[in-house]
Amino acid sequence: MPTLRNAATALGLALLTMSETQLPAVNYDETKVPQYTLPDPLKMQDGSPVKSASDWVEKRRPEVLNLFREHVYGHAPGRPEGLKFKVTQNDDTALGGKAIRREVLITFARKEETPEAHLLIYIPKNTDGPVPAFLVINFDGNHLIHPDPAISISKSWVRNTRRHGITDNRPKESNRGNTKSIAGGNVEKGFSDKPGDNALEQILSRGYALATIYYGDIDPDYDDGFENGVHRLYPKPKPNEWGSIATWAWGLSRCLDYLETDREINAKKVAVMGHSRLGKTALWAAAEDERFAMAISNNSGCGGAALSRREFGETVKRINTSFPHWFCDNFTQYNDRINDLPVDQHQLITLAAPRPVYIASATGDEWADPKGEFLSGLHAGPVYGLFGLKGVEATEQPKPEEPVGAHIGYHLRTGEHAVTAYDWAQYLDFADRHLK
Ligand code: GCU
Repeated sequence: MPTLRNAATALGLALLTMSETQLPAVNYDETKVPQYTLPDPLKMQDGSPVKSASDWVEKRRPEVLNLFREHVYGHAPGRPEGLKFKVTQNDDTALGGKAIRREVLITFARKEETPEAHLLIYIPKNTDGPVPAFLVINFDGNHLIHPDPAISISKSWVRNTRRHGITDNRPKESNRGNTKSIAGGNVEKGFSDKPGDNALEQILSRGYALATIYYGDIDPDYDDGFENGVHRLYPKPKPNEWGSIATWAWGLSRCLDYLETDREINAKKVAVMGHSRLGKTALWAAAEDERFAMAISNNSGCGGAALSRREFGETVKRINTSFPHWFCDNFTQYNDRINDLPVDQHQLITLAAPRPVYIASATGDEWADPKGEFLSGLHAGPVYGLFGLKGVEATEQPKPEEPVGAHIGYHLRTGEHAVTAYDWAQYLDFADRHLK
């Protein structure tokens, strides 16, 4: 009954707008950040100390992971039984002969109504053996990442219309090649239309493969009562079960399931990367799935790398109001009492340990709380210390364009909320240090 549904959606939007107007003003004043105490990553819930790497691996990590599942992102199912992969395209003359282009159709279940997800892969040629790879979850469709006319256009659509005023981001021919940064976002500064001047060709020239998937191929991005995407293959989520971020992260694990079967890719060296809401997703994917060798968070902000207790820029209350489908329902209990949340986001970073993780902020992205993103990296450091590894190697947030960090990389870039050539240059250098 399309008209009834439309009316319900319109009513939902009206209610949303009303509740948003009742939200407290956003704080961008550092002097008004409330006093807070972060949960200690090295203290078990019963108060006993975490003294060694094995205490971490055997006891504290499972405890923290479970707290995030229960209170923030929601528990997700495992690998589904009916999962299938089919290589639909395999061309070793891609990009003027420089690369192999492969497309893999992922079906999540045997049921007829299973969503179809398309993993796009480019592999550099003339390498000695399997190559490390970046797995990037993209915003607007695989065909946006490069003008290559052979990239298929997805039939899915995330339908999110709340992002930066974009009203129709349906994948279509006219936006082929629009996102030179792969990950998406609204601006891609630093890349040009010159051949080779985009993130894909830089990744390939440095000896990495790229695998990318459109997040709409996994689950849509609007509050649909979890009736679409992969959610429709499962019972309706309980208050402690997967919201959309956990679902997109689950989809990334299914991509890794495929990559493990691809003989040209070294699946033990896959860095998972995303921007903004998909940066939150990349961090959660690495937390849930220890097969990922590295995680990269670009401007992920609230519910990603930024500390929630600072309530600077976007807050938990605001994110749960604007995007009620992103987290599990339990998370809304903390809207007005953030200090009772048993975890904070520095602990999301600790769930990557001892694997390398990179956090990137932008000066013009106050909504994502750049300082709170840095502090998460800083306060995750003690867990890396248990493994004899160094974290951000700085006590203060560095100045713009001064990247820091050993096993926890961090930079603040001048500019807005986006993935730029500068950001990718840092990720490639960081990957060279850790994946090669
Ligand atoms: C909104 C949202 C952020 C999110 C961003 C994005 O600004 O409030 O939490 O990171 O969208 O995904 O672009």
